[in-house]
Amino acid sequence: MPDPKPKRPERYLSGIQPSGQLHLGNYFGAIVQHLALQQAGNSFYFLANYHALTTVNDAEALRGHTFEAAVTYLALGLDPARAVFFRQSDVPEVTELMWLLLSVTPMGELERAVSYKDKIAKGIAPMAGLFTYPVLMAADILAYDSTCVPVGADQIQHIEMTREFARAFNHTYRSEVFTLPTHRLSVGATVPGLDGQKMSKSYGNTIPLFVTGKPLWKLVSNVKTDSTPVEAPKNPDTCNVFALYALFANATEKAEMAQRYTHGGMGYGEVKKALYEKIEEHFAEARVRREQLLKDPAFVEDVLREGAKKARAVARAVTDRARVACGVDR
Ligand code: ADP
Ligand code: TRP
Repeated sequence: MPDPKPKRPERYLSGIQPSGQLHLGNYFGAIVQHLALQQAGNSFYFLANYHALTTVNDAEALRGHTFEAAVTYLALGLDPARAVFFRQSDVPEVTELMWLLLSVTPMGELERAVSYKDKIAKGIAPMAGLFTYPVLMAADILAYDSTCVPVGADQIQHIEMTREFARAFNHTYRSEVFTLPTHRLSVGATVPGLDGQKMSKSYGNTIPLFVTGKPLWKLVSNVKTDSTPVEAPKNPDTCNVFALYALFANATEKAEMAQRYTHGGMGYGEVKKALYEKIEEHFAEARVRREQLLKDPAFVEDVLREGAKKARAVARAVTDRARVACGVDR
């Protein structure tokens, strides 16, 4: 018997902070999924420039990073005819919704956020905006009735928190205003940075997507390795260079490289060279498209504005529903 109540199609939504140049961690953790999922339609992707304010406090720099991030997505193949692509700040409804959520968000819930503690430990200023960051993120997700949020593993807790906030709101106002989202991961593991920790714009350990030639080689040759001598066997599973190489390689290439590790007689310089070549090749076409887009800021702006119009229509309807539920509609 067919299901009498057909399941609603997934609505994918995700955001990325324009807080610096996008890097391999962003690409393999998030962007690859975003591009694949746009084929299904019903995808919303945005540049989280409000979130970026927690780390970037220079207006020109933020504008520049936002434009660069838009160009990056378009160069990599984001198709504005398939996915709604916009700037977070062009949808003021999310800050409105954030307040409605904040009013029913327990402090204890926010105090548990790992990303806040990590960022403070890394020296980012402990501003209230950073502390309440997950509530703005929840508003981003809930404003579009999103059902599925494709992200990297470090964001899972934020999506669990979003479910909590949505539940708290629905429960407090005895309503069904918000849809509870789930997360979706691409590569299981977190992409390591030059120092072996999570690659992140805020940690200064990234390989940006479009670096090429000498500067790229300089970065790749700086990926941290241990000091096992050339002749000795090495462990691919604990090596940062191998982890990065594996993201680009097919199954056969990966197996061959792993064998060369365990066999011994290969220096880390060789794997670094193989990684360098993979990066050059993988982004070659996108690099060309990027150069063209950089020359056409009016086109990029147009795409973002058109996207924002569509996004706002959805966010307005959901926010109005929330306003009615909590009694601030008149
Ligand atoms: P950053 O940490 O560099 O500021 P963002 O927080 O803007 O990056 O992350 C944007 C998206 O990229 C998120 O979905 C996040 O999970 C993903 N991401 C960021 N860094 C990594 C990484 N090192 N490995 C896997 N995914 C990542
Ligand atoms: N916090 C996310 C990150 O740092 C960016 C983000 C903001 C986001 N709002 C979102 C991701 C909504 C997914 C959905 O990666």
